[in-house]
Amino acid sequence: MKLWEGRFAKETDESVHAFNSSIAFDSRLYKADILGSVAHVKGLEKQGIISKEDGEIARAGLYAILDDIESGALEIDPLAEDIHTFVEGELTRRVGEAGKRIHTGRSRNDQVAFDFRWYVKNECAEIGAEIKALIRTLARMAQSHYDTVMPGYTHLQRAQPITLAHHLAAWCEMLRRDAQRLADARRRMDECPLGAGALAGTTFDLDREFTAKETGFSRITRNSLDSVADRDFALEFMAALSIHMCHISRFSEEVILWCGAEFGFAGLDDAYSTGSSIMPQKKNPDVAELTRGKSGRVFGDLLTLLTVMKGLPLAYNKDMQEDKECVFDAADTVRLCLRVFAPMLETLSFSKDAMRGAAAKGFLNATDCADYLVGKGLAFREAYNITGRLVRRCIEGGETLDTLSLDEYKTFSPLFERDVYAAINLDACVARRAVPGGPAPGAVRAHIENLMDWLDEDA
Ligand code: ARG
Repeated sequence: MKLWEGRFAKETDESVHAFNSSIAFDSRLYKADILGSVAHVKGLEKQGIISKEDGEIARAGLYAILDDIESGALEIDPLAEDIHTFVEGELTRRVGEAGKRIHTGRSRNDQVAFDFRWYVKNECAEIGAEIKALIRTLARMAQSHYDTVMPGYTHLQRAQPITLAHHLAAWCEMLRRDAQRLADARRRMDECPLGAGALAGTTFDLDREFTAKETGFSRITRNSLDSVADRDFALEFMAALSIHMCHISRFSEEVILWCGAEFGFAGLDDAYSTGSSIMPQKKNPDVAELTRGKSGRVFGDLLTLLTVMKGLPLAYNKDMQEDKECVFDAADTVRLCLRVFAPMLETLSFSKDAMRGAAAKGFLNATDCADYLVGKGLAFREAYNITGRLVRRCIEGGETLDTLSLDEYKTFSPLFERDVYAAINLDACVARRAVPGGPAPGAVRAHIENLMDWLDEDA
């Protein structure tokens, strides 16, 4: 039976029913739908719009439906039009008259806006917590590597010495912003649209603030048209997830590079790598490759909804039913990735020797050599030029700045003294980069402490 059958003389064509139906995917909103209905019914009772008896019967019936769905005793009818229709129909089937009263002062338009917001708001919190767990894992890893010198890169060319802790802490900051973006989006979407009706509010004297409180929302939406037409919250959610997946994808790329023989900086645990069907020696970073690859799905999900929404006049349009699968897919994909990505990182083994070896080659201390001359009073641009010529000499003679004799140094500038060797020593180069945010062990330690405090406060 259709909700709207009174107006129609004919049955909906089967193909139209199937096309129109969203139960195949919106059934996952059952809990939001039922809790929203319970709150709405409570509000109707409180305002004397339905009787206390009907309200109590309806609410008990709704809770029973929730229990039965969760226990598996009640299967959501795949032939229903959508989750809202299913819950109301099932309630009426179970309790009769009281069930028929619950839709007073409500439309599926504010109902779906509520259900979806409630769901996305929850996902923001849960995924945010998972991202924080990943940050904690990384911060703990960093704590063991304040002195693990490695090359820092620009253009994927060795640039200046940093430490593994400093590198991991950089990822922590990116992930912190990801978590913060979800928290910001969550705060913005924390408005209850119930009471907006189909588009123009309702003639019933609903206490919207009450319903908002009952359902855990901080505020009510301020315009009934906007309440049912807006899907910004879902867009923001997917935009935040897309940026997050962009980070995870870049991070994955580094893991893949580092595990290759050309870098040799890291090795994957056997449990988090895969083999080849033909090449017996292979150990592949499939997990990192898949997390890199799945970022594409999440970006696509965001673009799906942007495209769906961009031409819609106010207020609700059926196009908006296309808002759900992309959001579910984006959320599921991110959760799936995080679940394997964190333990994959945690079980990664690092080769300190390979990192130090790479840092020792490639003139990572050239800037420090120039800085040394600046310390002796030379202008930086001149110091830069002298060091550039020194590097060229080293390359031609197969030397490094550490092996070049002091006499040779002096032919480039009389300012060079024996203390130049200490100044360009890798550990010293790192230690002197002690500016806040820099790679010096003390600076990174302070950063990690700041991160840990934030994780504890904000948990
Ligand atoms: N299944 C619909 C959706 O997801 C529910 C809202 C239906 N509203 C309507 N006016 N047909 O958007």
